[in-house]
Amino acid sequence: MTSPTPLIAGNWKMNGVAASLIEAQGVAAGLGETKARVAICPPATLVERAAAALKASPVLVGGQDCRAEASGAFTGDVAAEMLADAGARLVILGHSERRAGYGESDAVVAAKVEAALRAGLEPIVCVGETLEERKAEKALEVVTGQVRGSLPAALAGQAFSVAYEPVWAIGTGLTPTTAEIEEVHVAIRAALVELFGDHGKSAAILYGGSVKPSNAAEILHAREVGGALVGGASLKAEDFLGIIGAL
Ligand code: PGA
Repeated sequence: MTSPTPLIAGNWKMNGVAASLIEAQGVAAGLGETKARVAICPPATLVERAAAALKASPVLVGGQDCRAEASGAFTGDVAAEMLADAGARLVILGHSERRAGYGESDAVVAAKVEAALRAGLEPIVCVGETLEERKAEKALEVVTGQVRGSLPAALAGQAFSVAYEPVWAIGTGLTPTTAEIEEVHVAIRAALVELFGDHGKSAAILYGGSVKPSNAAEILHAREVGGALVGGASLKAEDFLGIIGAL
């Protein structure tokens, strides 16, 4: 089996208005030859307009979360089907800001993954340990536990990726050492193969947490790193292109 196609996805989080689409268009315009699939995940309000703006380019559009149910009385929430209808192709699920801020358990994340698949969206499932967990030498146990709990059996044969994002590295400028990243990615790969057999080898394992143009090359070439989930540095086309170009 060939190695997974790398994915570099930008997570705009709660940033961006219509005028920000110029950055998405800048990414499309500046994207040269690359072996990576590239995605931008803007806030839900911009998914449809981003999809329209990027229609003629290979840059994919994704959502940042979805509800597990397809419709109903869930004020303020967005269904996977709605994201797909708006032009999204992927969706980030189980981001630590959702797990910590909204109490999303592995079971909730797994239900959202099933919803994404039902809607034809490719899930990017996030996992990662806190600083306390790393200090207690529990990083591998926590992360592989999240992988087992957040990835439903329905992913067998489906396209998906896993993003390893240490909570303490997100938005902090701190990153694990390359050896630490490799140790976790190798453990995630083993868990994926245990869960899905050979199909577990086809999922890209992204690294996320303070990826920037200056550290991207080293991170992206580390063992079992199949791309990046990029927050802050995805907001400016120049920075995001710098990361893509480091592959
Ligand atoms: P960051 O965020 O790149 O700003 O650290 C990454 C993420 O939360 O996906």
